[in-house]
Amino acid sequence: MCGIVGYTGFQDAYDIVINGLRRLEYRGYDSAGIVLEDGNNKLEVEKTKGKVDDLVRISENLKGTSKIGMGHTRWATHGVPSDRNSHPHLSNNDKIALVHNGIIENYDTIKTMLTEKGFTFKSETDTEVLVNLIQYFMDLNTETDFPTAVRYALNEVYGAYAITVMHEDYPGVLVVGRLGSPLAIGIGEKEYFIASDASPFVEFTKEAIYLEEGHMATISLENGVDIRTISENSKIEPEIQELKLSLEQIEKGGYEHFMLKEIFEQPKSVHDTMRGRLLVDEGVIKMAGIWDHIEKFKNANRIIIIACGTSWHAGLIGEYLIEEYARIPVEVEYASEFRYRNPIITDKDVVIAISQSGETADTMAALKLAKEKGAFIYGICNVVDSSIARITDAGSYTHAGPEIGVASTKAFTAQLTILTLIAFKLGKHNGNLGNADFMSLIAELEAIPKRIEDVLSSTHELVQNIAKDFVNATNFLYLGRGYNYPAALEGALKLKEISYIHAEGYPAAEMKHGPIALIDENMPIVIIAPKRGHYDKIVSNVQEIKARKGKVIAVVNKGDTQVSAMADYVIEIPETSECFSPIVASVPLQLLAYYIAVYRGANVDQPRNLAKSVTVE
Ligand code: F6R
Repeated sequence: MCGIVGYTGFQDAYDIVINGLRRLEYRGYDSAGIVLEDGNNKLEVEKTKGKVDDLVRISENLKGTSKIGMGHTRWATHGVPSDRNSHPHLSNNDKIALVHNGIIENYDTIKTMLTEKGFTFKSETDTEVLVNLIQYFMDLNTETDFPTAVRYALNEVYGAYAITVMHEDYPGVLVVGRLGSPLAIGIGEKEYFIASDASPFVEFTKEAIYLEEGHMATISLENGVDIRTISENSKIEPEIQELKLSLEQIEKGGYEHFMLKEIFEQPKSVHDTMRGRLLVDEGVIKMAGIWDHIEKFKNANRIIIIACGTSWHAGLIGEYLIEEYARIPVEVEYASEFRYRNPIITDKDVVIAISQSGETADTMAALKLAKEKGAFIYGICNVVDSSIARITDAGSYTHAGPEIGVASTKAFTAQLTILTLIAFKLGKHNGNLGNADFMSLIAELEAIPKRIEDVLSSTHELVQNIAKDFVNATNFLYLGRGYNYPAALEGALKLKEISYIHAEGYPAAEMKHGPIALIDENMPIVIIAPKRGHYDKIVSNVQEIKARKGKVIAVVNKGDTQVSAMADYVIEIPETSECFSPIVASVPLQLLAYYIAVYRGANVDQPRNLAKSVTVE
């Protein structure tokens, strides 16, 4: 949700900022901008609606002109994507430039106040209000220096933000602040980097400070990084962390898109999720986060899973897993609904938050609410040290590696893997999962990466061919039962978000209560029909579809006959216990969505209107 890059040092700031923006484009990509300090302490701004490539077209003349600057790639909140609304925004006196990720909720009140004082505004953004508020504080008292004015301004606003600010009278200085949106400071040899995540500076330094909530920092080559609390101006000792991220992890590695690379990484990412946790020879699952708090789980009245989007789908499968194997009641909630419906939460509840990015604003707010009410909070996040990971009482990282394609793929299967481990661990511990079943299930789980690998090689070409036949489809239905009902929801979400084809997921039996009215010879229906899991019932559902001439794309187990005989297209996956089938069945559905989108000419990694990390409500 908007990407910020900043740099001060000895290299060409233009190159660092532009390359950094390209890496952060997954966060938002409807407009982009850059500001550099030219040799004469003047701020040079270029910005435009469109992508970083569009920005490069209008700004290449700035290359080589400066050693300090910052840039922004936008996901519009206040005001349509346009040149005027793009960041950086300048103050009325043209001396201060600001880039911002997040939302200033009280911008309207401040704008009215500033307008009464004679300020004017060129854009519809909340960001332009903030930059002028900084000017206002500097004008009000000429003794107020730039970092202090930023601090005064941040104390007046509420909402969520990560900001970077430059002032032309303070050459070589960058001021940053954060509340609710992430910001990392990379520490190099005689250079500093600022970015929404570490990817823009990973090849230059492995040392970073993740700015904490409510903190700001003044950064200059002369004085280093000075961190303060925004509210009290109290000095904070920086905590420098070693980055684990490698350049290779954030590059496409020969694949046409990040999404395809990430789909193909799943044998490894699922394996990495289990590494050090699943010890089949010893017959144990080691998860310190669960074990250290086992009494909380054991005595829990219920587990509430909160998440959004794909992570919510993983949560639904988590409900099936935990209820089946650990016999603990589970409720799954959309974070955005949970937080506003005055939910009943007690200190006997365990709340599990699932989030790839660890930055999703709705999930974060729901967690804070549950925490206030005394629940024990467990996090399942992919991004290490993300905001959600940091506010939870305990948790498990999915270790799927950076996911850059906007549509979540490998993070989803990694989330399912963690939920499976949790369900088996709790079930074994509370006696609901006997030792023999436990041993056989964990042995099967260990082999899942190999199953995914087999599915990738046996279905890749087939799915590409199937996709060609549906390039012009306008609607799709996805059906599944039991564990595969959420897998159907996820299949439909993948298709709609990257191909813009309308798609709905349903429990297969629910079809007759409404969606069946949509079925005719033009309606493609993807049906997940593994042998284990209500197969006979699904056979009847397929018969009902074929009686209405729907086009069936069936995901079945190898050697299937009944559904395959009726289906128009058959995708075979290996037979597994029912609880593992969503992990395996999701892979060809990801490929199907991917190839339909590619053949439609869509921008798969950066689908319209979406962003990877949704840090606004
Ligand atoms: C779908 C997708 C989104 C996210 C959702 C939650 O492919 O990526 O639906 O799953 O925005 O994001 P996280 O998991 O980062 O909290």
